[in-house]
Amino acid sequence: MRNPKMTSATSLLFFAIHFACIRAENSSEKFVKLECKTEYHGVYGQQSIVECIVKPVVEDVTIITVTWKRVGAAANLLEYHKDKMIPTPGFKFAEPSWNKKNMNVSLLLTNTKMADNGEYECEVETDVGTDKATPSLSVTAKYKTPTMSSIPDTNIQENTDVTIFCNSTGGHQKGLIWWFDEFGTNCTESAELVAKETDDGLFSLASNFTVLKATSSYTNYTCKVLNVNGALEGKASFEIQFVSRNLGSKADNLDSVSNTKWLAPVVVIGSLIIGLLAALLFFKKRSAQRGHQTDTRHDDDVEAKGLNSDSS
Ligand SMILES: *[C@@H]1O[C@H](CO)[C@@H](O)[C@H](O)[C@H]1NC(C)=O
Ligand SMILES: *[C@@H]1O[C@H](CO)[C@@H](O)[C@H](O)[C@H]1NC(C)=O
Ligand SMILES: *[C@@H]1O[C@H](CO)[C@@H](O)[C@H](O)[C@H]1NC(C)=O
Ligand SMILES: *[C@@H]1O[C@H](CO)[C@@H](O)[C@H](O)[C@H]1NC(C)=O
Repeated sequence: MRNPKMTSATSLLFFAIHFACIRAENSSEKFVKLECKTEYHGVYGQQSIVECIVKPVVEDVTIITVTWKRVGAAANLLEYHKDKMIPTPGFKFAEPSWNKKNMNVSLLLTNTKMADNGEYECEVETDVGTDKATPSLSVTAKYKTPTMSSIPDTNIQENTDVTIFCNSTGGHQKGLIWWFDEFGTNCTESAELVAKETDDGLFSLASNFTVLKATSSYTNYTCKVLNVNGALEGKASFEIQFVSRNLGSKADNLDSVSNTKWLAPVVVIGSLIIGLLAALLFFKKRSAQRGHQTDTRHDDDVEAKGLNSDSS
């Protein structure tokens, strides 16, 4: 028969040895684990977070050192060691008032650049062990709402060739620009796209589309900016500025004004001639009446009266 005391003693011993082995073998690793995702996403010009959390196995752990750097780089982006913080502009702990008892050692990039894209290395040393991880940050940048313009820009006459521009900047890869008329017809085939790389690894797109013999019955054109994966990132519409109808009616007024210009002297001269003729007739009648003063005829009076009323 076995002694139950003996069994418990052996198992205790066993346990003690086992425990000691763990401590000896992995004194630095088993009691603390640094957990991060393998990839984080950031957007150009915005804040990005690379999240890493210290997961201790035991309670009440104190952090001694944290270092954040780019994989392969010599300089640290952010360093904390024994109550001393050594930051680099643009990089800090994501936790606003981080302290050595805070297990959230995430890195915050205050203004993400395309150059921040890549692998990071975070190393943590605590009073119960150390661990490190290499998460990566994938930075993307979106195209802005395009701006549109045309040549010529205003007072366009019917049947003029008009070139419309659609420009956008800010994408992190070469994008596409598609063109549509107001009926949704795809006009991209006849457009020309120029993509240029600008500072900080971003791209600018300039597309131009020429409307041959533009007419005022098709004035509205739309351009869409798509990223390299074909996702829409921005769109804008543009209206060709034809000579407006108001200006047209003003021109008509001008025409009627010039009509009255030649009409006025005609009216004046005409009435002068009529007036002269009337006066001539009147005086002729008067002298005739004077010639036959004795011969008073009734119908003469009527004629004179009619003439007088005509000329008045
Ligand atoms: C770590 O801190 C950041 C910034 O405060 C926060 O956004 C994030 O959710 C935290 N992570 C965890 C697991 O608490
Ligand atoms: C778009 O780009 C073209 C070519 O660079 C330029 O001529 C045009 O003025 C630009 N238009 C706008 C609205 O920025
Ligand atoms: C518009 O035309 C372009 C060029 O022909 C083509 O690549 C694109 O898929 C078309 N888009 C749509 C929405 O039809
Ligand atoms: C042009 O057409 C688009 C789409 O049909 C419409 O959303 C937009 O308001 C129009 N723009 C103008 C200036 O008429």
